[in-house]
Amino acid sequence: MSIQHCKIIVLLAALITGGVVILAPRVSASHENSLDDQLSEVLDAHGFTGRAGSSLEQRLGRRIDKKLADLGRLAFHDTLLGLNNDNSCSGCHAANKGFGDSQSIAIGIGNNNIVGPDRTGPRNQRRAPMVLNNVFFPRLMWNSRFSSLSADPFDNSAGFQFPPPESFSLSALPHLLTAQAFIPVTENVEMAGFDPAVLALDHDGIRGLVAERLNANGEYRRLFGRSFPEVRNGAPITYEMLARAIAEFEFTLVFADAPIDKFARGRGHGRENDRENVMTDDEKRGALLFFGSANCVSCHAVSGQSNEMFSDFQQHVAGIPQTAPTFGNVVFDGPGANEDFGLEQVTGNPNDRYAFRTSPLRNLALQPAFFHNGAFTRLEDALRYHLNAIGSAPGYDPAAAGLDTDLRGPRGPMAPVLARIDPGLATPVVLSNREFRQLVAFLRSGLLDPKANEHDLRKLIPLRVPSGNPVHTFR
Ligand code: HEC
Ligand code: HEC
Repeated sequence: MSIQHCKIIVLLAALITGGVVILAPRVSASHENSLDDQLSEVLDAHGFTGRAGSSLEQRLGRRIDKKLADLGRLAFHDTLLGLNNDNSCSGCHAANKGFGDSQSIAIGIGNNNIVGPDRTGPRNQRRAPMVLNNVFFPRLMWNSRFSSLSADPFDNSAGFQFPPPESFSLSALPHLLTAQAFIPVTENVEMAGFDPAVLALDHDGIRGLVAERLNANGEYRRLFGRSFPEVRNGAPITYEMLARAIAEFEFTLVFADAPIDKFARGRGHGRENDRENVMTDDEKRGALLFFGSANCVSCHAVSGQSNEMFSDFQQHVAGIPQTAPTFGNVVFDGPGANEDFGLEQVTGNPNDRYAFRTSPLRNLALQPAFFHNGAFTRLEDALRYHLNAIGSAPGYDPAAAGLDTDLRGPRGPMAPVLARIDPGLATPVVLSNREFRQLVAFLRSGLLDPKANEHDLRKLIPLRVPSGNPVHTFR
C-alpha cells in the first residue's frame, strides 16, 4: 500500500431495504486516497496501533472487578474521605469535565460545594488533570513526582517513587494508581484541612482516621465486605482497600477509542477498511501536521512507554504565562511568591525550573482550561500561544484568555521562563489559517473518544454516597 500507487478505492455502501440490497459504488478522489495512505504511513512509522485502550485487562492480568470499581466510584465522590469534611476527589476531578478540573487552578478545602465555573474558595497551585486513561501513564502529576521506575505503571518491580515521606514505601502496591490513591487525602489544601488535630498527624495517621471513618459506617462495611472477605468476617477496612477501590474505578475510566484509533485499526485490516471514514479530511490533515511538519509528536509521543497517550511523559519548559491567584492557600515559588518552579520542586535542581510534563492530549476537548495553571480557557488561544510562546508571552492578557478575576494578577516574571524554553518550542511553528484549523480539528475531535462525553460521564456521579454527606453540585 505505497502512496506512489495511485489507487482507486471503490466504496461499497450497502443499503438494505426490505430484503433488497443495493450496492452503490463510489469512486473516491485520488487525493483522499493519498491522504489516507500518508496518514497510515505516518502512524505505522510511529508504531501507533489504536489498540492501547483495549489492552487494559491483558496488561492488568485479570478482569476489572466491577463491584470494587463501583465502590471506588462512590468513595471518589464522598467528602467522608476529606478530613476537612468539604471536599472529595470529585471536587477537583469532575465527571462532567472528563474527571478533570472545572477550574484553571484547583480549589480544594474551603470550597462552596459547587463544582463548575462558580466554584469558589482558596486556590491551590495547579489545574487538576483529567483522570481518564491514567492507568496507562508511567508517571503522574505535572512534575511527574509519582513515577514507576520500570516506566510501566503496571509493573512495580523497580519500585514506585514518590517524594518523601512516602519515597518507595508504596512500591508493593499493584499499580501506580493504587499507590497514588494514598496521597490526596493527606494533602492539607486538597482534602485534609488545617485543623490542629489533623496537623498533629503524619500521613499514615491521616489515612488511619479516614479508615476509621469508613469502619464506623455500616454501608461502607457492607460494600467493602462484598469485595474483601476478611471485612465480611469482621476485620477492619484498611486504607489499602480504599486505595484499591479508587484505583479500580480509575481503571474503568479508559476512553482511548478516538477517531485516530479507529483509523489506525481500520487500515489494511479487511472488513474494518470502511473505518477510514471515521476521520474527516480536516482531522486527517491536522494529524499529518501533528506527526509531520509541526513535529508535535516529538514531545506528544505515541510510541514506547507513552502507551499511545500523546505524551513522552518527560518535562519541558513550554514558557506558559505564570499566573498566580490573589486568594490561595499554597505559597507559590520565587521571590515574589508568584511563580511555579515545576520539576525543580521535586529534584531541587535549578536546571529543572519551570519544566512541566508534556500534557497527554487525549479527550482534550472536555477540558475547560489548558496548561498546568489553566492560563487559557479556549483551545485555539492555548494552541496559538504554544506555537510561538516567545512571541506571544508579552501580549498575554489573562482577562482576554477568559480567566476568573482572582487569577488575573499578580503574575510571575516571564523573562527567566522564556530564557529556559525547550529548544523544541523556541522556533515558532508557522501555520496558515487553514492548517491551524485542521490542527485544532485533529486535537478537538480526532483525539476525542465519543464515549467520553459530558452526558454519559455525568451518569457516573452518584445521587447519594454511603456517608449520607451531600454530594457536590456539579454544573
Ligand atoms: C483540591 C483538588 C484535588 C483533589 C481533592 C484531588 N485531586 Fe487529584 N489532582 C489535583 C491536581 C491539582 C493534580 C495535579 C497536581 C500536580 O501535578 O502538582 C492532581 C493529580 C491527580 C492524578 C494524576 C493525574 C495525571 O495526569 O498525572 C490522579 C490520578 C489524581 N489526581 C487522583 C485523585 C484522587 C483519587 C483523589 C481523591 C482521593 C484526588 N485526586 C483528589 C487536584 C485534586
Ligand atoms: C518541546 C516539547 C513540545 C512540543 C514540540 C509540543 N508540545 Fe505541546 N506541550 C508540551 C508541554 C511541556 C506542555 C505542558 C506545558 C505546561 O502546562 O506547562 C504542552 C501542552 C500542550 C497542550 C495543552 C494541553 C493541556 O492539557 O492543557 C496542547 C493542546 C499541546 N501541547 C499541543 C501541542 C501541539 C499541537 C504541538 C505541535 C504544534 C505541540 N504541542 C508541541 C510540550 C511540547
